[in-house]
Amino acid sequence: MDRIIFFDTTLRDGEQSPGASLTSNAKLTIAKQLALLGVDVIEAGFPVASEDDAKAVEIIGKHVSGPVICALARCVTKDIEIALKSLETARKPRLHLFLATSEIHRKFKLAKAKDEIIRIAREMVKFSKKFIDDIEFSPEDATRTEPDFLLEVCRTVVDEGVRTVNIPDTVGYAVPEEYGNLINYLKNNLPDNVVISVHCHNDLGLAVANSLTAIKNGARQVECTINGIGERAGNASLEEIAMNLIVRKKYYNVDVGLKTTHIYRTSKLVSSLTGIPVQPNKAIVGDNAFRHESGIHQDGVLKYRQTYEIMHPKMVGIPESTLVLGKHSGRHALKLRLKSLGINVDDESLNKIFEQFKKLADKKKEINDMDLLVLAEQETLPAVEPVYQLEYFHIVSGSSTLPSATVRIRKKDKIIEDASLGDGPVDALYKAIDRIVKLSPKLNDYKISAISSGKDAQGEVAVSLVIDGITVAGKGISTDIIEASAKAYLHAINQYFIRRTITKKKYRGA
Ligand code: KIV
Ligand code: ZN
Repeated sequence: MDRIIFFDTTLRDGEQSPGASLTSNAKLTIAKQLALLGVDVIEAGFPVASEDDAKAVEIIGKHVSGPVICALARCVTKDIEIALKSLETARKPRLHLFLATSEIHRKFKLAKAKDEIIRIAREMVKFSKKFIDDIEFSPEDATRTEPDFLLEVCRTVVDEGVRTVNIPDTVGYAVPEEYGNLINYLKNNLPDNVVISVHCHNDLGLAVANSLTAIKNGARQVECTINGIGERAGNASLEEIAMNLIVRKKYYNVDVGLKTTHIYRTSKLVSSLTGIPVQPNKAIVGDNAFRHESGIHQDGVLKYRQTYEIMHPKMVGIPESTLVLGKHSGRHALKLRLKSLGINVDDESLNKIFEQFKKLADKKKEINDMDLLVLAEQETLPAVEPVYQLEYFHIVSGSSTLPSATVRIRKKDKIIEDASLGDGPVDALYKAIDRIVKLSPKLNDYKISAISSGKDAQGEVAVSLVIDGITVAGKGISTDIIEASAKAYLHAINQYFIRRTITKKKYRGA
């Protein structure tokens, strides 16, 4: 009981982040990475929300072994039946039922009295239990529910065979001490074989602190997301909870089964597939998390690392940029280096990465670990057939000429070319692309960052566009920032076409 069960909900609550929408293929890619990271439970989706959500649960159940695969359902028979159907492929399936219990939800959302809530909870667990053994129950908005009523709901579902009760701080209202006391109260009043789970939102920036205090008070499952993404201000961040429990093991005195060296790569993958960037000062995985700027700090770290570092970047899989590979390196060296970064590839993927590696090595003398991570990440991106692909571009720009761009794009078997003038080279490029794709995207955000070091570093361009009211994000990587800009723009446009085909009813509450 002193091992913390990591329940990852990146693919369900995380995907409810504004602007994030993952295809079932993208979800499968992330789920495979979560399995490598060693999470215990993957909440793969909310099957009643859309056909693609149901498909995601089904294919993750089929292709991902190791973790328990969980699907969310309201306490409604239709939801439960659809969730159970999606879970049929899973070796270790779990059904996650939720029903709001707080006074405010009972009165304004459900229009139901306390006894009705108890009746529905009991009946729906009883009904589900006929088909599945592992059931988790969440009294939604638990932290604003009267504690004695919350206990009554929990006892009711436990009597019907629920073994995991999750106590969500749905609106991020809890304070650590108060939440810890609530968990302690439930722990003391529920049978010992019931696992108490916690699920915290970050509206007041306390999701991680609340989760940790709950663990200190007896919670043994923690629900969290990679990079802390999720509804509104997000959910508790997996990497922050994990590293707190590990770095301060003597204080928390619990075990964590995660392979933390996969944290960084998982963070990068989630960011790249959701299009949600990681803030530079984000604990554990932010670009600055292990950077020392001030002279005094640098001097201290050089003399003895621990003077200013409480954990080694290697613990979370941040590569140390040892420059070892170049254009003369072979496939074998590449494979070994990837392996040391925690990336195990089959021969087919290795060949593809090697091809890209050679191209990059022609442009860049030394390939560092960060470059390799980027290449591997691109290879692991799910194969979504892009509508538009960049074939060629040519830019004319200078202090005495009006910038112009000529762009050639492939759409299936067709090549389309157009040109435009612009206020700058990127503006001209984007205007030429707009003419080809016949759309008028609004460029909301455009960011360039160097993702490896040196004058010939790879640059990453991230854009956010609004097309027909839909917000889409795109990323492009190249040693040439104009090319990276074009790739990012087209990536976002392709996302728009994918998104248009996924008619997604997002969860808006029971
Ligand atoms: O925040 C919440 O209450 C939820 C439940 C569905 C567990 O996400
Ligand atoms: Zn939630």
